[in-house]
Parts: sequence; C-alpha cells; structure tokens
Amino acid sequence: MEKLVIEGGLPLSGEVKISGSKNAALPILAASLLTDEPVILRNVPILRDTTTMIKLLKSLGKIVEIDGDRVKITSNGKTRHVAEYKLVSTMRGSFCVLGPLLAKLGKAKVSLPGGCVIGIRPVDLHLKGIKALGAKIQIDGGYVISRAKKLKGTHIYLGGVFGSSVLATANVLMAAVLAEGETVIESAACEPEIEDLSNMLRAMGARIRGVGSPRLTITGVKRLRGVSYRVIPDRIEAGTYILIGAATRSDIKLRGADITHLMALTDKLKEVGVKVTAKRDVVKVKCKKNYNPVSITTYPYPGFPTDLQAQFMALMTIVEGVSVITDKVYPDRFIHIAELNRMGANIRREGINAIVQGVKKLKGAQVMASDLRASAALVIAGLAAKGRTEIHRIYHLERGYELLDKKLTALGAKVWRERE
Ligand code: UD1
Repeated sequence: MEKLVIEGGLPLSGEVKISGSKNAALPILAASLLTDEPVILRNVPILRDTTTMIKLLKSLGKIVEIDGDRVKITSNGKTRHVAEYKLVSTMRGSFCVLGPLLAKLGKAKVSLPGGCVIGIRPVDLHLKGIKALGAKIQIDGGYVISRAKKLKGTHIYLGGVFGSSVLATANVLMAAVLAEGETVIESAACEPEIEDLSNMLRAMGARIRGVGSPRLTITGVKRLRGVSYRVIPDRIEAGTYILIGAATRSDIKLRGADITHLMALTDKLKEVGVKVTAKRDVVKVKCKKNYNPVSITTYPYPGFPTDLQAQFMALMTIVEGVSVITDKVYPDRFIHIAELNRMGANIRREGINAIVQGVKKLKGAQVMASDLRASAALVIAGLAAKGRTEIHRIYHLERGYELLDKKLTALGAKVWRERE
C-alpha cells in the first residue's frame, strides 16, 4: 500500500489538464452492452473505477482494448448475464449494468452493491423503475435476479426521499431504450452525466426526448447500433482543482473543462472572493486577498454537488468566520470532519450540518483517506497547510483522480508517493 506525502504551504501556478468524466464514463461503458456492434469511446479517464467497469464488461463477454484515453469495446455476440459480487461490491457504478443486460438479453443477475462509508445507499429506485417496465425481480443470495420476455414502456416516477437518483435514472433509461412503446421517466436526474449518457444512446439510435430535463420520454427501438463517442470533461475533478487553487491562493488554469457544469460552485466562490472565468475550455482561477466564509447546502444538479462538499469544507476551514455546510443528498457524508480537525481545523457536526469555524492556518498531519471525495478534501487541506501531511490509504483517490500526483507536481506542488 502507498501513502501520499504533501509538503504544504507552497503557492501553485500553471495549467492542469482535466480528464474525462468518471461518472459519465461508467454508465456509458455499461451502455455498450446494448449492442453487439463496436463501441469506441474517447476521453475515458483510466482509473480504478473505470478499470473495474472494464473488467466487468470483460467478465460479461465483451472484448475491450484500451489505447490512451480511447476504449474500444467489441463483442463476439455471446454476452453473459451474471455480474459477480466481487466486481459490483467494490464499486456501486457497476450496478448500472442491470438495465442494459435485461434490455438486451431478457435476463440479468447482478450482485447488490451494498453500502459504503458515505451512507446506506439503497437501490430501491433502480428496482422500482425496472419493475415498472414489466420485469420480474427476485433477490436471492445477495443478487438481484430479473427477467422479462419483453420490457414494456410505461409512466415512471423516480423521485426518492433525497430527490432524483443518478444511477437509477441511468439504469431505467438504458432498459427503456429497447422496451416496447413509450416510457416517461418523471423526476429523472438532470446531472450532466445523464445528459451525456442520453446523447450517447441517441447516437446509437435510441429515441429520447427531454434530454437534460427531469422528464425523459423514450420511444423504444428494436436495436441499437455501434457508436464512436467522446465523454464530457469531469466536472468534479475540475471543481477539485478550482478549490485547490482557491485554498492555496494560487491563480491557476484548467484546460479541457466545462465551466457551465459548475455554476453552483463558481457562484459560491465569487462570494468567497475567488473569481472563476472561462474562455472555451480554458478556465482561470483568480484569488482575492481577503476571503469571506460562505455556507452551502448540497442538492441534486443544478444544485451544489455533494461530490464537492468535502473539498469545499476543506477551503472553509481556513476562511476566518463561520460557515455552515449541509448535505441534503448524503446527510451522513461527514467522515472527513475528524481528519480535517486533526490538521487543526475547527469543525463540529450538528445533525445534518457541519459548523466550520475558520482558522488562520492548518498544520500538516498524518490522516486517513476514507472515501474518494473525502480524500480529495485532505489533499486540498494538505496543500494549504504548513508542513508535511501524509495521507494513508490513497487507493480511494485512485478511484477517481487520474494522475493526481503528476498533475499536482506540474502545478508546482511538492507531492509524492511513498510505500507504507
Ligand atoms: C452518483 C455518483 C456519486 C454521487 C451521487 C449523487 C456515479 C457513479 N456516482 O451516485 O458520485 O455522489 O450520484 O450525486 O455516478 N437513493 C435512494 N434509492 C435509490 C438510489 C439512491 O434512496 O435507489 C438515494 C441515495 O442514498 C442518496 C440519493 O438518493 O441519498 C442520491 O443518490 P444517487 O443519485 O442514486 O447516487 P448514485 O447514483 O449512487
């Protein structure tokens, strides 16, 4: 196992290239199961989660070739229908093979993903939508076993207690594109990753209206063709680097980003005192001398993303004054509080709120990465802190940040890996 060592407190400069979106690439890779024709994807980030999905596709019978950020998926026409526990349990995104397998093969046996440190994370909405399309569902031995001779279009409401669900929308959408007749998904997730999946499916011949809106209308088609498709930039990676610039008070540039997906963040940063501007795909971060504390509440898109909550909190720990951080998508996603406090932050949790009392400076410490975005928050804190920070269990970071240490080094940070 490796740890990430950061010698903090240095100003950064220069430019960082943003990779393709992990959360768009995962369902898009799964969508290749809907056709036997070749699917060529570009701008795919090669990291632990996408590699897991590729392993899963291979285990289901696909042939996958990777060349840089280009992934080619072909088939010998023999797709298997069982997604094994060991691949689905390590990554929730794997569960979205259920919809395409069922639509293409009429049957699917997919392991239940289980919870994780950010919460229980049920799949009731996925199953509700798949059932509404006429599939029979049975849970047996930790697997969801589903069958349907022919899926049938229907009217589905997919809103849950915490709003819409990204992967449930992806799953039901991928099942509906090959169903008979018309399906309307109400309260569909509006995240750019769902829009990207919809655009890819349309390029394969699917008929989807209302793309990007909470009402998706799908007219089923008999078959989908192969496609060559480019995945959108990763808005969460881009947001993380913007927050790295803000926390280290560095004017940096991002290339290959789409700022229109980050309005909730850039709007809040303006209040803090950080100006984020963009010309085409180049984003500039410009920091003012004095920062203001700002409160945020996470919501489904276009609200403030829960996947940037921990990183924003890391910034607020060093902005004098009080800010309140509330997570309405994952109310328990606060595991990073204890680790940030080890670095001298002053945060206390009160129910679904984290009250951050900003301090002048953080101090480097030994900390533990607990999940992907919490780990990114520790990187931000480590870069801004005085002295040496050691982040243990960095495999969490490898799930979602392509070439993190190399990208940070190129910005002038002192960051390296060491064996534990
Ligand atoms: C996706 C993202 C994840 C992000 C999350 C919220 C991927 C691979 N992952 O996860 O990074 O943090 O969206 O933006 O794209 N829920 C239910 N029942 C369900 C499904 C979800 O109650 O059947 C709840 C969840 O527990 C959570 C909320 O709905 O409170 C939103 O979760 P959801 O959008 O489904 O997250 P994921 O799609 O799993």
